Amino acid sequence: MTEYTLNGHKMRFFNKRQWAVAVSRTANCQLLLPTLISKLSPIVAHHTPVLLHESIDGLKINPEGVYVDLTFGSGGHSQEIFKKLKGGKLIAFDHDEETKQNSINDKRFVFVHGNFRFFKNFLLYLGFKKVHGVLADLGVSSHHFDKKERGFSFRSDGLLDMRMNKSAKLTAAYLVNNLTPEKLSKLFFEFGEIRNANQVAQLIVKTRNVKPIETTFDLCKALSQVTPKVNEHKFLAKVFQALRIEVNAEIEALKEMLTLTPEMILPGGRLVIITYHSLEDRLVKNFMRSGNFEGKVESDVFGNIHGVPFKVVNNKVIVPNENEINNNSRARSAKLRIAERND
Ligand SMILES: C[S@@+](CC[C@H](N)C(=O)[O-])C[C@H]1O[C@@H](n2cnc3c(N)ncnc32)[C@H](O)[C@@H]1O
Repeated sequence: MTEYTLNGHKMRFFNKRQWAVAVSRTANCQLLLPTLISKLSPIVAHHTPVLLHESIDGLKINPEGVYVDLTFGSGGHSQEIFKKLKGGKLIAFDHDEETKQNSINDKRFVFVHGNFRFFKNFLLYLGFKKVHGVLADLGVSSHHFDKKERGFSFRSDGLLDMRMNKSAKLTAAYLVNNLTPEKLSKLFFEFGEIRNANQVAQLIVKTRNVKPIETTFDLCKALSQVTPKVNEHKFLAKVFQALRIEVNAEIEALKEMLTLTPEMILPGGRLVIITYHSLEDRLVKNFMRSGNFEGKVESDVFGNIHGVPFKVVNNKVIVPNENEINNNSRARSAKLRIAERND
């Protein structure tokens, strides 16, 4: 919830949907709308943290400990961790440099502009050999969806970019205009779980043979023939998700990051991860249970289990309650898993 004073009136905004209600209920809404939009734009770009209390409780914070937020974003989770620290430290990572502006101004806080797949090296460089807890709230933030020029959203027209790290080379436009139909089809099938991935790939190739696909709306238009009339948004969300995962190498980064956690988390320390799609969730679930991505638990002839670095804290995955989903539609697909480093 955010409080804002407009022309001397105190107003409260809970999320974008309620904000829209507040605007439309205003008697002179035609006049107020532009003023509100320009004055409230920082709120629109703000990301509401998902499963906030559940994930922070999951970290079981030691006020003197060292904690890592691998996905800083707007800093919602970091702020909450920070409230619980006394002598401890918080190191926050994000590969989107724009998020640096949300840094906490305190000498116990360090912001690292970098990819979390290299978090071990960054921590060693900063002088931390091991930490008490690691949190990752995966994927993109509302900030990315709200800025049309970043090209993440099929709801607004912008260049088909989708890079979280703006200094990276690969863009979504490059993929759709250059990958072979086979590669495109594989990408949509694996990362978007789109059943007619082949048809989607063929349509993209047919369109780009006439004119390059440059913008988000170019892509939507190219796929209009296969876009269902019902659940149109669901289909486009899958298409955009698949491209975003490939552009940002999200699966490789997640696997590399998870692989580093056993050596970087102290015994008794916690690993807390929020995922937003089944591919990510399966990797996290298997890794926490078995220490590998296939979920295979190795045991000797006596049945003793070996090589499992973590103990699962919540056997049943934690999901947001109805209230959170109603207030923040992004929370809809969130899943929280917590594990504790074995001694
Ligand atoms: C869901 S948002 C996190 C929101 C944050 N918890 C908050 O409360 O504001 C995910 C953030 O992680 C960043 N991110 C995603 N993958 C990353 C990676 N491999 N390395 C570093 N940052 C990454 C994104 O740029 C984005 O800002």
